[in-house]
Amino acid sequence: MKTYLVTGAAGFIGSNFVKYMLSKHNDVRIVILDALTYAGYLGTIDKDIDNKRCFFVKGDIGDRQLADKLFAEYDFDYVVNFAAESHVDRSITNPQLFLLTNILGTQNLLDAARRAWVTGKDAQGYPTWREGVRYHQVSTDEVYGSLGPEGYFTEQTPLCPHSPYSASKTSADLIVMAYRDTFKMPVSITRCSNNYGPYHFPEKLIPLIIRNILSHKALPVYGKGENVRDWLYVEDHCKAIDMVISKAKDGTIYNVGGHNEMRNIDIVKLIISTIREIMETEPQYRTLLPEADRTDVSWINEGLITYVADRLGHDLRYGIDPTKIKADLGWEPETPFAKGIVKTIRWYLDNPDWVKAVTGTDYQAYYDKMYGNRFAKPNEQNDACIKSAMARKGGCEETNR
Ligand code: NAD
Ligand code: DAU
Repeated sequence: MKTYLVTGAAGFIGSNFVKYMLSKHNDVRIVILDALTYAGYLGTIDKDIDNKRCFFVKGDIGDRQLADKLFAEYDFDYVVNFAAESHVDRSITNPQLFLLTNILGTQNLLDAARRAWVTGKDAQGYPTWREGVRYHQVSTDEVYGSLGPEGYFTEQTPLCPHSPYSASKTSADLIVMAYRDTFKMPVSITRCSNNYGPYHFPEKLIPLIIRNILSHKALPVYGKGENVRDWLYVEDHCKAIDMVISKAKDGTIYNVGGHNEMRNIDIVKLIISTIREIMETEPQYRTLLPEADRTDVSWINEGLITYVADRLGHDLRYGIDPTKIKADLGWEPETPFAKGIVKTIRWYLDNPDWVKAVTGTDYQAYYDKMYGNRFAKPNEQNDACIKSAMARKGGCEETNR
């Protein structure tokens, strides 16, 4: 029996990871540590918490006393750190919170693990570690910055983050590797591309577009919708993390992605046509639409798309080269995008109560603040933004860092 400390598991990927692990393995015990910020919802995992195989503790990853207490109580074999402030747009509004949670929170967990797992010193003065332990950091492809129209991120691509969010995740990766180099700490890192699937908070593109269509609202597309993201079904990411923790050599970094690049505008169009088709062929779902809009659903069309002011510093393109994880561990994504996106849309149609629960009054205030000005000023600046992003070669070349 292995005991995992899984942080941030009331959020999107962490909750999917806990469900994945509990269903795949009988011999795991999981302790969830989550601060339940706006992005964490206990209702997502309450059925998984049985206080036998799965426990929940509300708390901050930056709380030293709590972290020490949990290590003493549960004697963890593994730490899997999902907890983070994860939304790029919020990091532009409030960078400091991202630095506190994503950098100092990570460092606090590393130190707690070090206090609990170090057994002594070797002849050169390096710490020695309990057999079989591992700290795993869940990182992101955004640490590499932005690609131009060609090429892919490999594990050798220079780190070149552009947003406060991605800079904080990059800093966390560097701290993790510093603990590896300085203390010989057993660590691993995965850098994954954009995830999609159930329990994705509707501040992110895919669930936000689904929710807006169902509410007959405009669909905000930043800039010209030409930015490219590389989408991976969340369960495939969970499988990769499981494989890395149990099979990878200490100190290894893996990129995770399935070569599924799409322009934002194409994703939005696909969501529109899928929901329209479901509403036409399965009219029972029309109860999710505003009452006046149920009889004729032809309004679900591309006319809902509204080009709005671009994200500042908007990365043009992400694209992962997953050769290393495939070659070393045999990981491959199982869910093709065409299947995964329909599955995801259906999950949102079948779980309106979850969406309602996570989008209370705070969400509306967030939406008004984040999108009020954007809708007011769709701009020529978008043209300039895209032009300069297309001209970049990718990596750090354009910034001379
Ligand atoms: P999320 O925002 O949905 O969930 C984050 C969770 O962390 C929430 O439950 C929140 O309550 C918790 N949390 C926040 N601050 C905390 C703190 N100080 N202490 C304890 N808990 C705290 O995020 P997500 O999309 O599930 O992302 C999870 C991780 O995966 C993040 O580290 C993110 O950087 C990384 N990642 C995300 C994606 C993606 O596409 N979503 C892709 C690659 C990597
Ligand atoms: O690449 C991995 C990253 O993917 C993770 O590290 C982040 O935690 C995760 O949030 C995600 O970041 P993105 O910024 O790519 O995701 P987001 O859903 O916010 O935006 C996806 C694209 O859609 C991006 O180009 C911006 C655009 N967008 C987003 C929103 C919310 C819009 O055009 N309109 C919107 O309303």
